[in-house]
Amino acid sequence: MADLSKDTHAKLRRRTKLVHLGHDREASQGFVNVPAYRGSTVLYPDYATLKSGKQRYTYGTHGTPTTRALCDAWSELSGAAGTTLVPSGLAAIGLALSTALQSGDHLLMTDAAYFPARRFAETELRRMGVETTYYDPAIGAGIAELMRPNTRAVFTEAPGSQSLEMQDIPAIAAAAHACGACVIMDNTWATPLFFSPHAHGVDMAVEAGTKYLSGHSDLLLGLVSANAEWFPRLNATATNWAILAAPDDSFLALRGLRTMELRLREAERQALGLAQWLAGRPEVKRVIHPARPDYPGHDIWKRDFTGSSGLFSVILNPVPEAAVAALLDGLELIGMGYSWGGYETLVIPFDCRTYRTATHWAPGGPALRFTVGLEDLDDLKDELDRGFQRLREASETSAGKE
Ligand SMILES: Cc1ncc(COP(=O)(O)O)c(C=O)c1O
Repeated sequence: MADLSKDTHAKLRRRTKLVHLGHDREASQGFVNVPAYRGSTVLYPDYATLKSGKQRYTYGTHGTPTTRALCDAWSELSGAAGTTLVPSGLAAIGLALSTALQSGDHLLMTDAAYFPARRFAETELRRMGVETTYYDPAIGAGIAELMRPNTRAVFTEAPGSQSLEMQDIPAIAAAAHACGACVIMDNTWATPLFFSPHAHGVDMAVEAGTKYLSGHSDLLLGLVSANAEWFPRLNATATNWAILAAPDDSFLALRGLRTMELRLREAERQALGLAQWLAGRPEVKRVIHPARPDYPGHDIWKRDFTGSSGLFSVILNPVPEAAVAALLDGLELIGMGYSWGGYETLVIPFDCRTYRTATHWAPGGPALRFTVGLEDLDDLKDELDRGFQRLREASETSAGKE
């Protein structure tokens, strides 16, 4: 088998790329997959090579053939100049923010950011002397009005965590760049397969590889991809901190990459099917799913995204808390747990009122977030049908007590 030529590589369609990216015949000694390299020390063959600084691998914290294969593949998928790997999605958020900011700087963060990103801003960044202002995720070009002379970064996430508000990333990026600020995006929901962050103006894109890249709820991983302007600074920060992903997790993530598009497309199909069914339920007030025409940011999603993943939310018609508990507690197939993007369906109740500051969260009923897996959709519907019956019964019991 001949090595993949540059010409062939350049013409490959994405599905083929997902099969071949990161393959390294030398590193894998003929086996299909690059193995999980473990190691701290890397030996040099001679004094001249040591002095030259040109050896490909130099020390465990600077990367191995496994991490390099994954980084190269991710950079190509994301349209990035380079990628760094860290042990979790939250570590990736912290790394990107710490790369862009220093003492005295101001950060603008979407009010719909993943809550621990916000906690990072309120603790670590505050301790570093960085001030954070939260903004309405729907702000678009209006973000220009919030920019201060010391605003050095704008943190975005589209769609936002839990409540899934869309963001106009190109408009925000244009306004931020006009003021010299760096644009960071948490792109975990869409992944680079459904949203090309750097082509839309993002400088550093964060991905919790824990979700769809893994796809099997068996690893924690974060990736930060960056454009040519930001990659050298990102790489330097990552090198200084020496936080890196574990060899086995990097190996598993490379394995996940091969099937990621298939899994994502199936998650999309399944989630749209379940969302449609839920939208027709009398217990459901509203479905929040970017690919549905009734979603408030649908036009932006349609303009910028090429697909939707398996994560969406619903607002139930008002019922007592005990009724929501009755629905959730009796579930046998659908687990209750944080994280998402695995092969299994999960549901989690949420309430953004507890932490939002720039926007008012008043959905008019209890909120649930679903991540839809690969089960037969009819089994999920049957399970939820039984759950809604429990919810109605518990509601009636509560009403009888009043
Ligand atoms: C949008 C988003 N970003 C980042 C993360 C953090 O990923 P990790 O669990 O790998 O720290 C999560 C985790 O739920 C998430 O939902």
